[in-house]
Amino acid sequence: MPDNTYTHGHDDSVLRSHRWRTAANSAAYLLPRLRPGLDLLDVGCGPGTITADLARKVAPGRVVGIDASAEVVDEAKASVGRSNLSVTFEVADLFALPFADQTFDVVHAHQVLQHVADPIAALEEMRRVCRPGGVVAARDSDYPSFAFAPEVEDLTRAIAAYGKLTRVNKGNWDAARHLLGWAHAAGYDDVVATASVWCFATDQDRTWWGGLWADRFAGPGSFLGTQLEAHGIADRDDLEAFGAAWRQWAASPDGWFAVLHGEILATA
Ligand SMILES: C[S@@+](CC[C@H](N)C(=O)[O-])C[C@H]1O[C@@H](n2cnc3c(N)ncnc32)[C@H](O)[C@@H]1O
Repeated sequence: MPDNTYTHGHDDSVLRSHRWRTAANSAAYLLPRLRPGLDLLDVGCGPGTITADLARKVAPGRVVGIDASAEVVDEAKASVGRSNLSVTFEVADLFALPFADQTFDVVHAHQVLQHVADPIAALEEMRRVCRPGGVVAARDSDYPSFAFAPEVEDLTRAIAAYGKLTRVNKGNWDAARHLLGWAHAAGYDDVVATASVWCFATDQDRTWWGGLWADRFAGPGSFLGTQLEAHGIADRDDLEAFGAAWRQWAASPDGWFAVLHGEILATA
């Protein structure tokens, strides 16, 4: 199992964000490469909403989602299991995938490589289970490029505190900009690199996005807040200020927030 800590944990403030994700809003760059009958692996699948959407695109191909967290795999099984899709979920470490070489046509990871200590080794293992000529696809965000208005000082401090914690946890908060280089270092020589954004600028989106981040920092039982305190990066007063800052931003009718993502499609 992973030798580093997944910074966000899997409390409700995190899963509220993951459950919103679809292939359209989080894997659009990959969709033109999909067709019925392809076998697809989704590594670090979380609660499996993107996995399920991808399964609809490749049916009747075999689709498997794996994640290191048994808790989130159970949630994926329960929610996607209610559909008629042919998808299975397993607990596994992406550095030791429980599949033979060349098992899948597509191996996908959304917002996973930013959280692992050795993203190059991860890309190598993803290629091992991908058939020659198949596609290894990854998309990650870039926290230092988060852009927002209006300016809220404690929001900038909150994002910087998150960045410090990712370094303690051996993650890369600027993964988006490194995906192409990591793929080259992993030995891929045919890589298409692109970028796309999530933008939150409606009342409904602001309430959802600002609220879930407020809870990640200051909510009861927040894994992120607990770690920030444990590592001396923030104290309780800071966490309360960070939560208030997210809510202040969300309450502004002028509130606009953009999350830059890097994407790669690498030929195996
Ligand atoms: C930000 S979440 C993304 C979940 C999903 N891909 C999505 O976008 O909704 C990252 C996921 O990667 C998983 N993860 C982190 N390290 C892992 C590893 N070494 N092996 C498998 N899963 C891992 C975490 O448990 C977490 O569920």
